[in-house]
This record gives sequence, structure tokens and C-alpha cells, in this order.
Amino acid sequence: MIPGVDNDSIVYLNGDYVRLGDATISVLDRGFIFGDGIYEVVPCYGGKPFLMDNHLARLQRSLKAIRIDAGRSTQDWQDLVLQMLSRSGATGDCTVYLQVTRGVAKREHGFPPSAQATVFCMVSPLKRPGQQVRQQGMTAVSMPDERWLHCEIKSVSLLGNVLAKQYATDAGVDEVLQFRGSHLSEGSSCNIWVVKDGTLSAPVRDHLILEGIRYGFLEQLAAQAGIPFQSRPITQEEVAHADEIMLSSATKEVLPITQLDGKAVGNGIPGPVYQRLRAAYDAAIEAL
Ligand code: PDD
Repeated sequence: MIPGVDNDSIVYLNGDYVRLGDATISVLDRGFIFGDGIYEVVPCYGGKPFLMDNHLARLQRSLKAIRIDAGRSTQDWQDLVLQMLSRSGATGDCTVYLQVTRGVAKREHGFPPSAQATVFCMVSPLKRPGQQVRQQGMTAVSMPDERWLHCEIKSVSLLGNVLAKQYATDAGVDEVLQFRGSHLSEGSSCNIWVVKDGTLSAPVRDHLILEGIRYGFLEQLAAQAGIPFQSRPITQEEVAHADEIMLSSATKEVLPITQLDGKAVGNGIPGPVYQRLRAAYDAAIEAL
């Protein structure tokens, strides 16, 4: 029994819907042995998936990138997400977590000739960001990005991200801003945005960041709100002098970072560009 985890929840494992407490896989699963797999986190509001098609397209891209053939179409993944939502009886806000690994095989590094992919799916409650964090913002510290060079793949090999998050916790703050050399990459599990003189910028979509589903979505919301947007390399110097900094992810949505490395960002309160994006994001959820 794991505290806080309901062992009676229904999860999906390799074709079966079973109690979480009964869902077991082999210790030889390559996800366990090598971190050889990928995942997705789809946010859902009032039991309805948000931006699901984009999440499932990225799932297919991640599978292709690491050459796992799970033998499923995008329609199959969509059916699985909807089945999980319906079987779990989720009517509130939740996330659907999907994980696919290269399966169970003898421990040898090379791809096994005939392993069946392991497919796991679960629904967890989602606590949306509350008034306090929306109004006060989050705190962050800078750190070097020491992860590998394929951050565009949503891999379950998350040791670098786990250590980055713990770096924040040890520093007594909420999040990290990672820098690859002198350039901004991303947070521990979120994308980072900066605002200067009314223009919103985010690091380029390359192999050094995971292109969040909110990346394209906030870009679209910014265009609709008439906020100029640039995707470009951002230096540490620019971040230090930004008027606003914010983060985005499936679970954090969009939130302001109001303190970085012990100093106020801008005037230390959530800024106007954040407020407009936040309002547009809330409206999109409302309209779901
Ligand atoms: N993380 N960058 C990293 C490294 C991430 O892990 C995430 C999301 C993002 C934002 O992506 P999206 O907007 O699609 O959520 C960026 C998820 C939420 C997680 O690992 O739980």
C-alpha cells in the first residue's frame, strides 16, 4: 500500500483493466531496467480531455523517435484515453497518464528482437493552481542544464529532471530555470517564457527542450490577444532582466514566476502579459 495512492483505482495494463493494487509488471521490463520508454500526461477538466489530439500526436512522435512499435493507431490511443476516463468515473479535473516501454526482455542493451511493448494508463486527480499561486507567483533558482541532448523526446528516463526538481526543493523554491551554457532551456517539468517590453519569448523548439503542448497553445492564445511572440535563443542575462517570467505545463497550466535567484522578477507581482494569457487559458477550459 502506497500512502496517497488508491489501490482500488482502475488502471489499464497491456489490454486489461485492473485494480492498481493488482497491476504488476516484470522486473525485466525495459522501462524499469533502462528507462526505455516514453509517456504522456493529458489534462482533463470536468472529465473531458484538453488538447488530447496534440498530446496523442506527440505520443506517436515519441514512440517513433525511439523506435517502439506499439501497434496502435492514434484512434486506438484516443479510445484508450476515453475508456479510462469513463471506467474511472472521472467527472472532475484529472490527468490521464500514458506510458509505453519497449517491453520485457533479457537484460541486453540492444533492442530485443521480439518484445511486446508494455502499455500502462492511469487516471489521477488534478488539483488546478489555486488563487494563492496565481496571485503571488512561484519562486525559482537558476541551474545548469545537465540533461542529455534529446530533451524533445518525452522519455521516462527523467533522472536529470528529477535531480533538477530536487535542486529547487533543496534551495527552498518551487522550480528551476535550467541553462544550457548561457542560454535558457526549460524548467524541471515545464516550459519557460519571458516577457520584455510587452513581447513574449520562449526558447526555440529544438532538441534541448520538450516542446510542451502548451507551447503551441499559448503561442495561439498570444496571437489572439495581440501579444507579440518570438521563438528564439534567450540568454541568462535577458532572463535576469525580464519584466515577467512564466512557466507552462499540463498540470501547472500557466503560472507566473515572481522571484528568481532571490530577486524580484520585474516588480515582483504577476505581470499584465501573464494575466491576459491566464484569462485566455481559463476561458479555453471553461469552453471545453
Ligand atoms: N511535464 N518540459 C518538460 C521537461 C516537461 O516534463 C513538461 C511536462 C513540459 C511541458 O509540456 P506540456 O505543456 O505538454 O505539459 C516541458 C509533464 C506535465 C510531467 O512530466 O508530468
